Amino acid sequence: MRDGNSGQMRKTLEAIEQVVGPRGVVATDAAQGLLTDHLGRYRGLPALVVRPATTAEVSAVLAICHDAGVAVVPQGGNTGYCGGATPDESGRQVLLSLSRMNAVREVDGGNFTMTVEAGVPLASVHDAADAAGLHFPLTLGSQGSCQIGGNLATNAGGTAVLRYGNARDLVLGLEVVLADGTIVDRLSAVRKDNAGYDLKQLFIGSEGTLGIITAAVLKLFPRPVVRETALVAVADPAAAVRLLMRARRDSGDTVTSFELLPRLAMDLVLANIEGTSDPMGHSHPWYVLLELSSSARLALDEILQSIVGEAMHNGDAVDAVVATSGVRRDALWRLRESVPEAQKCVGGSFKHDISVPTSRIAAFMADAAEALHDIVPAARLCTYGHLGDGNLHYNLLPPEGQSLADFADRHGAAVAAAVYDRVRRLGGSVAAEHGIGQAKAQLLADTRDPASLALMTQLKAALDPRGILNPGKVLRRTTD
Ligand code: FAD
Ligand code: MLT
Ligand code: ZN
Repeated sequence: MRDGNSGQMRKTLEAIEQVVGPRGVVATDAAQGLLTDHLGRYRGLPALVVRPATTAEVSAVLAICHDAGVAVVPQGGNTGYCGGATPDESGRQVLLSLSRMNAVREVDGGNFTMTVEAGVPLASVHDAADAAGLHFPLTLGSQGSCQIGGNLATNAGGTAVLRYGNARDLVLGLEVVLADGTIVDRLSAVRKDNAGYDLKQLFIGSEGTLGIITAAVLKLFPRPVVRETALVAVADPAAAVRLLMRARRDSGDTVTSFELLPRLAMDLVLANIEGTSDPMGHSHPWYVLLELSSSARLALDEILQSIVGEAMHNGDAVDAVVATSGVRRDALWRLRESVPEAQKCVGGSFKHDISVPTSRIAAFMADAAEALHDIVPAARLCTYGHLGDGNLHYNLLPPEGQSLADFADRHGAAVAAAVYDRVRRLGGSVAAEHGIGQAKAQLLADTRDPASLALMTQLKAALDPRGILNPGKVLRRTTD
């Protein structure tokens, strides 16, 4: 992997190898899967790929890189959508994988907390909570591969945000290594702590540009013992929003998930994902996957029936299937969770990860669809996602027969401008849950107000004065 580096670079890399030892250096062959991002848009060429085993090793590696002015790109499970974990092609950056830091340090059931290292896969965090009779609610389709450190670095969202919040809401304490190797140990496990600034929130969502997260204290919750799930065909997105309001109100706010699916997404899943089937006799333009859950044995089945029944009665819902067993619930969830994979099967989609207030969802969708019709009438809208959070994956499939690359070349700029313009007019965000990485660094620069951008730049300069942490991600390089 190392190219004809200068003597100085060679010495730096040797010093890093000394710190992490032979097991901490990833051989060229084994590193191949780490060099390309999940969507295959970026391929990096690092000088070295390292996998430190401890916080002390991360600290020593950063201290060396800081002294030498060598850039470091942290990587978790490499499932991110914005190229944030992919190094550039200069052959002069160090890719630092957290995958060996995968210990669950402590589960404190009495305090409803768990202390984990950054490289623990999200699914293993779930398992450890479960083994203690508790629940960690962050839920993503990528949970088998993504790591908790990556989830915190991106402030991940997923399908349970409505009830439990984003990743940043699920953290009490953090251990972070700063650019110069300083370890900030704030593994606090208290729920009240107003002693000074809440530093952890600076690092959460900073995508590896302000520090490397090495461990975290996570909040745990009582385990849900009742889960009631329905797939509801709704008249249109406005009806879905009315259903959301009623469901929250009439269920004692036990709505855990409220996910929107268009018929196109359903068709893609049914055609491309083995073992899926349409649970309804007829096809409908829009569906909502609605789940209530509780750690008390509440009669959520009756509550769900009543919510769905009322929606059918007033015309907001046109059909519904309530899962009557765990197997049927899993089958409904599979329809939703397979949408990303199904889009990949047909060549991928042109993605926008946006949010607007839920009260403005219907206006956004009507407005954006009209604008897109003028730009590229034959494009196929595949708008799905976390309607309960106002977060839509506003994706477009190219017209039949056109490749994604060709579509992006011809229409990408105009399409994105139209979508983001509507989002901003409605007070939304152009990067709701997947982050900025390198894919959206220009978009952030173009859309954030100058005062906020200046403050971000000052924070970056204060914490990483030599600019070695994930350069070019989130904030553009000054030379970009
Ligand atoms: P990576 O991709 O490895 O890294 C992401 C960013 O974080 C990079 O900038 C990297 O440098 C930085 N980073 C990683 N680890 C650290 C660390 N320890 N310290 C500092 N910086 C670090 N996302 C959602 O929000 N909601 C979803 O519903 C969702 N569903 C998905 C479904 C699928 C099928 C896939 C493939 C992805 C999905 N994602 C979703 C996107 C992705 O899984 C999340 O962004 C996830 O949080 C990334 O975690 P990771 O460990 O893979 O991070
Ligand atoms: C999802 O909600 O399924 C993801 O965030 C979007 C995706 O994987 O494309
Ligand atoms: Zn999502």
